[in-house]
Amino acid sequence: DSRSLLTVIILGASGDLAKKKTYPALFGLYLRDLLPSNTIIYGYARSHIEINDFKARISKGLKGDEEKKKQFLSLLHYHSGKYDEKASYDEFEKLISAEEKKQSGVERSNRLFYMAIPPSIFIDVSIGIHGSLISKNGWSRVIVEKPFGRDLDSSRELVSELGKLFKEKDLFRIDHYLGKEMVQNLMVLRFANAVFEPLWSKSHISSITITFKEDIGTEGRGGYFDQFGIIRDVMQNHLLQVLSLVAMEPPVSLNADDITNEKVKLLRCIQPIKMNEVVLGQYTSDPEGKIPAYLDDEGVPKDSVTPTYAAAVFHINNPRWRGMPFILKCGKALDERKTEVRIQFKRPDNFLFSDDDISRNELVMRIQPGEAVYLKLLSKKPGLENKIEQTELDLSYRHRFENLDLPDAYERLILDAIKGDHNLFVRDDELDVAWQIFTPLLDQIEKEKIKPEPYTFGSRGPKSADELSKRFGFIRSLGYNWPGNSPQ
Ligand code: BG6
Repeated sequence: DSRSLLTVIILGASGDLAKKKTYPALFGLYLRDLLPSNTIIYGYARSHIEINDFKARISKGLKGDEEKKKQFLSLLHYHSGKYDEKASYDEFEKLISAEEKKQSGVERSNRLFYMAIPPSIFIDVSIGIHGSLISKNGWSRVIVEKPFGRDLDSSRELVSELGKLFKEKDLFRIDHYLGKEMVQNLMVLRFANAVFEPLWSKSHISSITITFKEDIGTEGRGGYFDQFGIIRDVMQNHLLQVLSLVAMEPPVSLNADDITNEKVKLLRCIQPIKMNEVVLGQYTSDPEGKIPAYLDDEGVPKDSVTPTYAAAVFHINNPRWRGMPFILKCGKALDERKTEVRIQFKRPDNFLFSDDDISRNELVMRIQPGEAVYLKLLSKKPGLENKIEQTELDLSYRHRFENLDLPDAYERLILDAIKGDHNLFVRDDELDVAWQIFTPLLDQIEKEKIKPEPYTFGSRGPKSADELSKRFGFIRSLGYNWPGNSPQ
């Protein structure tokens, strides 16, 4: 309403995340007219940057109408200061409140803090916010970005330190995969359609694979990446979130806590991951030797054993899934970019047709790029021949929905934080159980210095990963190519 004002404060405003995600998402909301009419956007970081240089930098990440861009840029302010010094935050507070006071008729100044900073300064910055920047007459909410620690102990410490400063209801831990359209659709597909639920168990499904592939390496982010590795970077958060939405029991209601309760319950049923059901990989240069190998990336030690690829089998010990494998795979520098959930069904008990075609029904949820849901099925080849062939029922968004303009995940998440809706954020106990699952494995990998299997930049990844899937019953249908894969 017109009596309240929103100040968005981006800590770490000069960094990469702010430039690539936070500011463009705010701009997206601005274009959709979803930011409150009186919004102030303040950036804070250590580097001294002239406001015009700062705007030029941010502007590069924005797509859209030039006039709108200009208007949006006029909302931006920037201030530099230290992260670990109260005086800096006090000075910053003066600037923010002066700016807020310029707006007339405002009774409430709400403040949304976005921490786009490395984890090493999470606590300093939180102390700074808590000590100097909390709104005196409106709400103050804090968005935090991963990594939330690097193992169970460090995550617990972070949760407890932040917990001393902010209430759980004011903390918004982002896992941006939860903001993706198709990830949200998982709940609808599962629980709004009568046809899927009866099939959604080990009785009819033989395996579920969740795949994350990127066709680029760690270019330029090697220094950060090497301290974390792909398991912490993608599997422990993004893929585990997708897994919990795919596998959880129906929640009591659509309320945030009810959904999270089911996710936590599911995660607690995951059995310890076994090293002999894990494949780790690290990319080498491309066949022509033009693209640098992981070990050539700046900031990566020459003897690093950090995995850039991981595949692991998860066993969920509950009545629905006991005995059926979930295969999670993620990697950088692969042959394509895609994230999907692939549910492979068992063969009909009484299969009447010739055995040459070993393909199976698969329900695929393509999270990106090109959102789609398709069901692979066998159908009679049209014509006089009595042959069957593999085809699909295909809901490709770009064909089905006109003028599709999907918001970026960050747009939705920032909007939800403005609204105070926790649905798409990670709760403290959920984070804890996620670390409980991965910490023993990560410790073992580190202690035993397990060497990742090399794979060529631009390939399918380590050979052992396909063998792992095969070992757990996954059947690759080689002759089939989903039409959505072909270029438009
Ligand atoms: C981030 C990871 O959380 O997610 C990156 O740190 C990864 O390494 C990115 O590239 C992938 O996100 P998206 O939305 O591009 O699939």
